[in-house]
Amino acid sequence: MAAKVKIGIIGCGGIANTKHLLALGRQTDRVELTAFCDLIPERAQKAAEQYGVPGAKVYTDYKELLKDSSIEAVHVLTPNRWHREMTVNALEAGKHVMCEKPMAINPAEAMDMVNAAKRTGKLLAIGYQYRQRNDALTLKRMADAGDLGDIYYARGHAVRFRGVPTWGVFTNKLEQGGGPLIDIGTHSLDLALWVMNNYKPSMVLGSVFNYLGTSLKPGEQGNRMGAWDPDTYEVEDSAFGMVKMANGATIYLEAAWALNMADCREGIITVCGTRSGATMEIAQNGDGGWRTDKQLVISSVVADTPAETRPSVATPRPDAMGPHDRECANWLDAIQTGSPLLVQPEQAYTVTRILDGIYQSNRDGKAVTFAE
Ligand SMILES: NC(=O)c1ccc[n+]([C@@H]2O[C@H](COP(=O)([O-])OP(=O)(O)OC[C@H]3O[C@@H](n4cnc5c(N)ncnc54)[C@H](O)[C@@H]3O)[C@@H](O)[C@H]2O)c1
Repeated sequence: MAAKVKIGIIGCGGIANTKHLLALGRQTDRVELTAFCDLIPERAQKAAEQYGVPGAKVYTDYKELLKDSSIEAVHVLTPNRWHREMTVNALEAGKHVMCEKPMAINPAEAMDMVNAAKRTGKLLAIGYQYRQRNDALTLKRMADAGDLGDIYYARGHAVRFRGVPTWGVFTNKLEQGGGPLIDIGTHSLDLALWVMNNYKPSMVLGSVFNYLGTSLKPGEQGNRMGAWDPDTYEVEDSAFGMVKMANGATIYLEAAWALNMADCREGIITVCGTRSGATMEIAQNGDGGWRTDKQLVISSVVADTPAETRPSVATPRPDAMGPHDRECANWLDAIQTGSPLLVQPEQAYTVTRILDGIYQSNRDGKAVTFAE
């Protein structure tokens, strides 16, 4: 059996505690969590006590953590502003890196990360775990098998009626680089490019708004994550983009944390091909929470009749792995056996490039074209 992978955690906030530490905590036969870092020392201490090996180290400065040569891999789970710096420094220090989405706040920073991974020969994974859902994996298999034909139109849905994140620094432009587009639009765009297997954008036209974020006061927001402060709301509340790929395929992307619209869907895509189309559907469980086994609807013609079919994408057994565990297993497999990562850094770079194009198009008031 391969030696256990020694891992350090940088950023012990929301996503650390709801995804990474839970998934890694179920892999104790493969990993040892030996170091934890957070600017807030109590958070690192708490995570170390809950998930760390006995004697796990606690830091407030990630550069000190990187000096520990026994650490083979780090998870970068800090606000977006830090992704490039921490990832590049970790790769240069000889660590493999699992970095949360979005990869970086702009394409130049994302390319620095891609180049650092190439230069050092270390692994760089980006946390697009939606790809690991049953519906997404089924759709990808169908697309790769040619069941959809050539996909020439896609829609990326990332719209919340009122779902502004109110923990952390999500509405802070410096820390996050943007709002719902970079935060949740990134997941849907990643899904669309991956299912289409198309990473060559040629043109982007975008519109970005902030009407509700700065104008609605607590008491009139109706936000399902609690009231936000309109005076410190610096990012967009909604953004829309049309992406034309070099082969003519087109993607409409819509992203919002707050939008007055009934048709709100998040983390899913619609794709239309020459043979059939597929729509991921939101399915909610009894208490209205999110399910990871969302429905998949295939639109095609059967016996000269329009037909909708629903392949079974339900998790087969209660103990079957969910997206977080699959992402973690894919990551550990890549480190221990050299098997391929599901999310390649070059793919995440293209996502970053297109999102940046939407912001730039809105600033310039015209379409942005990509050289190659
Ligand atoms: N994959 C997903 O679906 C998903 C979901 C939520 C968040 N995220 C991503 O995870 C990242 C973090 O989001 P979150 O919700 O956990 O935020 P958070 O604010 O809850 O946690 C971030 C933590 O990082 C710490 N931190 C900030 N700067 C630091 C620094 N310089 N050094 C050490 N620690 C530092 C903060 O103190 C905080 O504890 C973001 O990039 C976000 O986009 C991904």
